[in-house]
Amino acid sequence: MNIVVGVTGGIAAYKAVNVIRGLVLAGHDVHVVATDAALRFVGKPTLEAISRNIVHTDLYEGVAEVRHVAIGQAADLIVIAPATANTIAKLATGLADDLLGNTVLASRAPVVIAPAMHTEMWQHPATVHNIGVLRSRGVTVVGPAVGQLTGADSGPGRLEEPDEIVRAALAVLEPKDLVGRRILVSAGGTREALDPVRYLGNRSSGKQGLALALAAVARGAEVTLVGANLEVQTPASMRVVHVGSTLELAAAVQAAAPDVDVVIMAAAVADYRPESVAEAKIKKEIAGDRLTLELVKNPDILAGLAETRAPGQIIVGFAAETEQDREALLALGRAKIARKGSDLLVLNRVGWTEGFGTDGNTVVVLDRRGDIVMEASGSKQTVADRILDAVVARFA
Ligand code: CTP
Repeated sequence: MNIVVGVTGGIAAYKAVNVIRGLVLAGHDVHVVATDAALRFVGKPTLEAISRNIVHTDLYEGVAEVRHVAIGQAADLIVIAPATANTIAKLATGLADDLLGNTVLASRAPVVIAPAMHTEMWQHPATVHNIGVLRSRGVTVVGPAVGQLTGADSGPGRLEEPDEIVRAALAVLEPKDLVGRRILVSAGGTREALDPVRYLGNRSSGKQGLALALAAVARGAEVTLVGANLEVQTPASMRVVHVGSTLELAAAVQAAAPDVDVVIMAAAVADYRPESVAEAKIKKEIAGDRLTLELVKNPDILAGLAETRAPGQIIVGFAAETEQDREALLALGRAKIARKGSDLLVLNRVGWTEGFGTDGNTVVVLDRRGDIVMEASGSKQTVADRILDAVVARFA
């Protein structure tokens, strides 16, 4: 996609660099339009190097190619970060006294703004009114966050985190094909307590599950995330239930499942738990040279959900396998989906360095006949979207 990033003159302009970088790394062609004031805070060479394109500032440059409208006409999305109170006022009135103002007026693309200013300015009736005007025109406003501002003060007005701005901006471009759908996603890895300080666990970070939940929200779904020991922050755009053990995960998932259209079991679930949990810390003096743990089998949550699913409900399982050979991996996946009874199975290879905690993933999605319905490789966000494509295809 062709994305225009408008950078305006506030201290937070230095953070625009990370917004631009995030959009570039997501595979987009990013064109920066910076105001003169923005360039007092962040250097043009930095913006050019990070965006991999020439940075435009001057309304009177490139006149022969009608640049003041060409940039806006070519844009699929305009993101303004940071958006100062001054820029917000100009956008609200439709002023076009600089290149960014012209670009916005000359464009039919959706506009996302990330305001950044001091609390007094954000809460001033003029700004409140202007933001209302922009919202009524369909502009997406991301943040501002509440926190430490440039001076000693803190409060609402801080630029939202760059990652969140990128996510919210790209969400605007998503197809809204999950509007009206309720989706339950489990993510993370369960932990089975041995004693008050120790547990048996796994290396799942919850990144793929969270990416699925976020992608579903972006496509219009109402999402419940059941997170087991997540190592990632959860956003306010979904209902989150935090759990620890497999039995807690089972209870939370079973409680939420009857009300949803889709269940995606991305959590890495412990198959066994200690038969008993020690009341106090297990001591070497008492345990001696060898310690034997007696483990009992946990319920298979996914198989249970598949068995009791409501008509039309779609159940998606995951299978993380260490098998290296592709055909053998597929055979494991086919056997697993047959055993679990889910509608789809997302098969991925994991190992010491693959899968867990990483930012990328490679998956094959199987249906109940064992046929490959989709293969995807890339960032966990990209993979999440492709998995949701496979879910949407089943609704059709
Ligand atoms: N799962 C579950 N309940 C369990 C174990 C796993 O719901 N007690 C779910 C996982 O969330 C995942 C799928 O089942 O969606 C496959 O998990 P996996 O660990 O790969 O399969 P297992 O059934 O544990 O089989 P095995 O470990 O023997 O390969």
